[in-house]
Order: sequence, then C-alpha cells, then structure tokens
Amino acid sequence: MISIIHIFNIKRDAFRKLSFFIAQVKYMRMYDIIERKRDGLELTDDEIYYFVNGCTTGEIPDYQTAALLMAIFLNGMSDAEVQTLTFAMRDSGDVADLSGIEGMTVDKHSTGGVGDKTTMIVVPMAAAVGCKVVKMSGRGLGHTGGTVDKLESIPGFCSELTHEEVIDTVNRVGACMIGHNSEFAPADRVMYDLRDVTATVESLPLIASSIMSKKLACSNDSILLDVKFGSGALMQDLSDAVSLASEMVKLGKSAGRKTAAVLTSMEDPLGYSVGNTLEVIEAVRVLKGEQKGDLYEISIELCAYMAHLTSGLPLEECRRLSVESIDNGTAFEKFKEIVHAQGGDERYLDDTSLFEDTAFHSEIRAERFGYIAAMDTHLIGQASMILGAGRAKIDDEIDHAAGIVFEKKTGDYVSPGEVIAVIYTNDENTLYEAAFTIDTAIMYSEDPPPASPLIYDVIK
Ligand code: URA
Repeated sequence: MISIIHIFNIKRDAFRKLSFFIAQVKYMRMYDIIERKRDGLELTDDEIYYFVNGCTTGEIPDYQTAALLMAIFLNGMSDAEVQTLTFAMRDSGDVADLSGIEGMTVDKHSTGGVGDKTTMIVVPMAAAVGCKVVKMSGRGLGHTGGTVDKLESIPGFCSELTHEEVIDTVNRVGACMIGHNSEFAPADRVMYDLRDVTATVESLPLIASSIMSKKLACSNDSILLDVKFGSGALMQDLSDAVSLASEMVKLGKSAGRKTAAVLTSMEDPLGYSVGNTLEVIEAVRVLKGEQKGDLYEISIELCAYMAHLTSGLPLEECRRLSVESIDNGTAFEKFKEIVHAQGGDERYLDDTSLFEDTAFHSEIRAERFGYIAAMDTHLIGQASMILGAGRAKIDDEIDHAAGIVFEKKTGDYVSPGEVIAVIYTNDENTLYEAAFTIDTAIMYSEDPPPASPLIYDVIK
C-alpha cells in the first residue's frame, strides 16, 4: 500500500521540480538573490523556494548559502519573507501525518536553556489531563541540555519510534517523546550547520523559521512555545524574546495552528539540577508533588496553556486540572506509562536511587556573607558541560550521571562555608575547572535582589 508519507514525497518532489522549472524559465540565479538581499530588497516567493530547494539538494554551494544567510542576518526579512522561508523549509522534507491519532494533538517547544527539564514534567501532565502530545526534542549542544539525552538516562528508553509506533503510543498512553526526525525540514539542518560556523545563529527571522519549520513538519494541531530570555538563553533581552515569540506565533497561526507563546526567564537555571540523570530525578520529584518552586509553577502554567489551546476550556479551569494531575498522582503515573511504552525501565522512576552515581563529588561553598544576587546561567551550563554532562561538538559522548545540584539559588542568603552546590562527575580532572566556573558565575550583594516574575508575558 502506498503510504501517506510516500504521497507527500511525490507531491514534494513534483513541487521542487516545478519551482526549479519556474526558476530556470525566469533565469533565476543565486548570485542575483544574494545581491538583492545584500541591497535590502524583499525576496519573492519563487526566489526563496529556489534558495531553500537548492540548498537542500546541494545544488547551491555552501558559500552562496552562507552569503545569503549573512545578508539576511544583516538586513532582516519582512513578515511575508519569513513566512515563505518557513513554509519552504517545512516543505523541504517529510511532513508527519498524525490523522491516525484520535483527538486534537498539541506540541510544546522551549527555545532552550540550562536545567530546563519542563518537557519531562509537562508532557505527562498534559496527557494526564486529556491532551494528545507528539513531542519531538533535540540533543544537548553547547551550554544547553537536550530532552532526548535526559530521557536516555533512563535505562532502555528509546527515543526513535516509527510513524506507526508514534500513532499507536499516543493513542494508547496519550503522549510520546521522541528525537528529531532527520527527514523533517532537512533544509534547516543544512542552514543551521552553516549558521553555526558563520556567526549567523542570532538572527530573528532565521531562528523563527528554523524552529517553526520543524514544528509545522511535526503537524500537531496546537503549538505552545516557551520562549526564554536571559543569560542562559539564545535571546538575552526580553524585548528580543518578545519579537521572536510574536513572529513564531504569527507563523503558527498562518499555517492554521492554534499557537501561543509564554515568555519565561533563563536568568537562573530552572529548578535545582543541571545534568541528564539529575534532571530526570528532579522531574520525578516535581511529578510526585515533592518539589514546589519555580519549576513546579512554570510546569503548571505550561500544562494549563497546552490544555487551554487544545480543549478551549477556560485557562483557570486548565490550571486547576494541571495542579490536580500532580496532587492525585496521575501525572507521575502517566510519565511511567510513557517511559514504559518507549522501552524504558520505569522502576528507576519509582526508586531514583537505582540511577548510577558518579565516582567524584565536590561541594561549592560560599566564601562570604550575602545574598546570591544573580547567576550567569550560560557559565553554569558551561560548568555542566565541563563535568561531562554536555557536548562541545555534535558527536561528543556525554556522561549521563554528571552535573550540578544547587542547594542555594538567586535570592538566598548565605554565610561563609555554606554549601551552594554539589558537582558530580566521573572525570576527576574536571572538578577544579567546573568549580571555578560556577564560582565565577555567582554574584553576591548585601541586599536581597528584587523578586522576578516567572512568566513575563503571554503572546496569543
Ligand atoms: N533552535 C533551533 O531549532 N533553531 C535555531 O535557529 C535556534 C534554536
């Protein structure tokens, strides 16, 4: 039987051929497209499709793709250009067919940060309150972690499911958490790899189209975006994060998806732990109702918005259901069901002492009296990477057990000798550099720092 994906592929290939044909008829040349963008002109839909198709197939050489990316970085794009770029990138590969899932599906995406383990909490919560979730996540790179690495700390957990397995798992247990499918938005892979080495990552139109092309290829009916700002995030300023969130919400809606974005701070690591196994253990604590605070509060809000987008129920009612899913244990049971369905050993969630410990621990202690005024979250992420929990390069091996557990966070008062954090690693040689990096990241003050909100804005 011809599969739906196959039909999509035929359509996509036909579309590519057509757009190349049009391009040839119009004598389109990459040189002219670069020149037009360099001079601040708006690219046409044909030009954008020609560029995206050509860089996906390799017909446009990397140096010309990189030159256009830099011109976009410097001169920006209009809303119409970003929309066409996003749709062209989505159409550069497979588009998931989720029609086999009974009910409306919802996705949640975080723009990334340090200690951000919300997916492992929010996806089971959302499934426990009746949402259907197909969640695709990435691996960690640089100072930020990736949900797939975290979940793979659970022995047996498999993040690669076939299309049939995704449909079956979501119909049976309500959600699945899988890795990015390389067949989705392959143009993004080509462009992202070039952006990474040409200083063009921090471009709003390029970030928005990169994220949303993959979200749209995943085909969930609704999309909730958690757009982070601050020292540990891609966007350092709130105003840039608001612009990115607004652009992505527009893109989601223009593709017919219910889309909203919450703006949350990444001025501090989220919760208390940073590192793969350590974050699974913390997620379990929140799901069991044993830990409140920033991570719990943000998880309640994210789940409430996911349920609100999907069900249309009032937000307050969705908040109540989210809290209830933790209080009555259904969210934690759902996490175990999802992990079990994906081959993971759920006994590790019932008893987190089963997780392997690291060979070396060291305590970071305060050297003075004072309040912790701020943390450089980027440096905290780097310290975690030094300990072995993250990757400097895409093919680096990681140590799942390594990382940091904070005992004190911004706003806490400390006295000399008090433990601020404990670091974990299997490589003794990393202890000194990681401890020094964390020390450098922590700033003190005589007075308590002003309290900051968890959610700064919501864009609908
Ligand atoms: N995450 C993505 O997927 N793409 C970007 O451009 C930045 C962050």
